[in-house]
Amino acid sequence: MSMLNDVGAIPSAKDMDRRTSAISDEYAGTIGGDILAEVADINLACGRFDEAVTLYRQAIAAGTTIEVFERLAQASFPGPTYRDHLSVLHEQLKPKTYLEIGVFDGDTLALARNGTIAVGVDPAPRSSADRPYVAPTTINRVTSDTYFAERATQSGGPLPPIDFAFIDGLHHFDQVLRDFINLERICQSRSVVVIHDTLPVTAVSAQRERTSRYWCGDVWKIVPCLRRYRPDLTMITVPTFPSGLTILLGLKPGFAHNVDWYDEAIMEFGGLVFDDEASYERIQGQDSSLIKNSSAILMANVNAWFRVFDDQAMR
Ligand SMILES: C[S@@+](CC[C@H](N)C(=O)[O-])C[C@H]1O[C@@H](n2cnc3c(N)ncnc32)[C@H](O)[C@@H]1O
Repeated sequence: MSMLNDVGAIPSAKDMDRRTSAISDEYAGTIGGDILAEVADINLACGRFDEAVTLYRQAIAAGTTIEVFERLAQASFPGPTYRDHLSVLHEQLKPKTYLEIGVFDGDTLALARNGTIAVGVDPAPRSSADRPYVAPTTINRVTSDTYFAERATQSGGPLPPIDFAFIDGLHHFDQVLRDFINLERICQSRSVVVIHDTLPVTAVSAQRERTSRYWCGDVWKIVPCLRRYRPDLTMITVPTFPSGLTILLGLKPGFAHNVDWYDEAIMEFGGLVFDDEASYERIQGQDSSLIKNSSAILMANVNAWFRVFDDQAMR
């Protein structure tokens, strides 16, 4: 008797494919979360992203002991990452000035190119942020609120407006809303503001307080909030790893701009709960600003907006 008969027939590649990709919810309920996560990993490694997403979600529901949120995000957002998109935006916008809120180790600040004056704001950047940058770069070691307050009262003449900005500091909705309001004041109508973490992939990572390694906070509330209070803005959301990017166009710079609605907006949207995994699908489904994860499509949208804006400005 051969060993093969003892262990049963070797499964065909087709069988393997079926076993690793199609697990019904009913059957998944009987398998441990960690095993489901392992099968999800195989699917992710093979580029079967939809199957991997289903399996990671089943693994989470089954109580996997491994945190799979980041891998779920990889499966949910294949294609260019947020850094790839930021790099293309730098290359194509060629901003004179760039402001980044939330520097950490300087990886995204370093995307600013020669010809751009870059400013980073972070109360506690990593020591690795002290590195040579291609663009002339200053890092302000203060919170964004302090930076904007000091900038508003500094003497020595007005600073140049910000052409391009990236909000990636404290991941709390009220902070992100304040960062946007403060930034808009010092931008121009043709400036571009990008917000990170607008598409968290799980309820736990979408909570205001951090309880997981992969964490987006409640930044996601900024999209429905700005749609409600600033319907004049053009929003483009890119489903990109790790947690989405939202690009804002059509800013109304200057201090005269009315932001009386800030407290009301915090009351209205601060209490929203990303209550279950279905919220993600719902938010995606309802988010009319969502485009495909492609820098070409993103730039086509941004350039189309610039064309309309420039056309109207000529009249
Ligand atoms: C996610 S990291 C930034 C990552 C960086 N933009 C990148 O993509 O490589 C968030 C950073 O925000 C900083 N931060 C926290 N609170 C802040 C605040 N109130 N104002 C500005 N930055 C803040 C943290 O110190 C941390 O370095």
